[in-house]
Amino acid sequence: MALNIRKTERGRVYFIGAGPGDPDLLTVRGARILSEADRIVFAGSLVPEPALHDLNDRGLWVDSAGLTREEIVGQLVEGVSKGEIVVRLASGDPSIFGAMAEMTTELDNRGIPWEVVPGVSSVFAAAAALRMELTLPEVSQTVILTRTAGRTPMPPGEEIEALASHGATLVIFLSIDRIEELVARLATVRDPETPVAVVARASWDNEVVCRGTLATIGGEVRKARVMRQALLIMGDALDPERRKKARSRLYAADFTHGFREGKNTDPPSPS
Ligand SMILES: C[S@@+](CC[C@H](N)C(=O)[O-])C[C@H]1O[C@@H](n2cnc3c(N)ncnc32)[C@H](O)[C@@H]1O
Repeated sequence: MALNIRKTERGRVYFIGAGPGDPDLLTVRGARILSEADRIVFAGSLVPEPALHDLNDRGLWVDSAGLTREEIVGQLVEGVSKGEIVVRLASGDPSIFGAMAEMTTELDNRGIPWEVVPGVSSVFAAAAALRMELTLPEVSQTVILTRTAGRTPMPPGEEIEALASHGATLVIFLSIDRIEELVARLATVRDPETPVAVVARASWDNEVVCRGTLATIGGEVRKARVMRQALLIMGDALDPERRKKARSRLYAADFTHGFREGKNTDPPSPS
């Protein structure tokens, strides 16, 4: 079946998820639009611009690290007014802590068309680095993606203690610089032996993986000198023993579904 590749439109803003860092993890659609863009506004602290430059060495690359929201929007609007193909390159996937709504509202107010190209979030690159499933049958079937308050406060009810008490796999962004405080708060509601991992710069050449428990991870992170660009994953889905025992119903021999007839695994009845 031929893929119906959509034509990239001039005078439009594309919010593209750049993926977690390794340029290989940019989607095919993202790479195609990026190669066609006239202006690329990127988050310099997390998007590896030098690695992506090969995809487009003729467009204007603007690092948004030192810009205010108004200045970033100004860049997008200016590009569109010149009939350019404009890209806002976000790290990972733009829908997770991507500060996208505050820009798209401004674009909507000006009647500027925009669309989103999803990306591989760092949470998935971290899970790949750990070679783990975030969901494990009968261990955790829920994943919570969250952060702790920095300059952005947490809404009521989303305190880390409340979220951690669920027992779901917990993924915490934007908080590694406060690891000691974070683990102390988690330890008020979870067993100190709960498995925890921290992955820094997932998928980059200098990726760092720290493994431990709630009781030990702070020390491991300090030893590895991880201060930023890292996320913390906590939960029993990280436990290798629980992983070995995990079995889903989907692939069980006696389970029938739309694509496969179940096999009867009952022992033959004595004749
Ligand atoms: C502003 S948020 C953006 C998240 C991004 N939209 C995503 O989907 O991964 C930045 C935070 O994401 C996490 N992060 C981004 N890239 C990462 C990577 N390659 N490895 C580990 N954590 C990363 C860190 O917690 C960092 O503080």
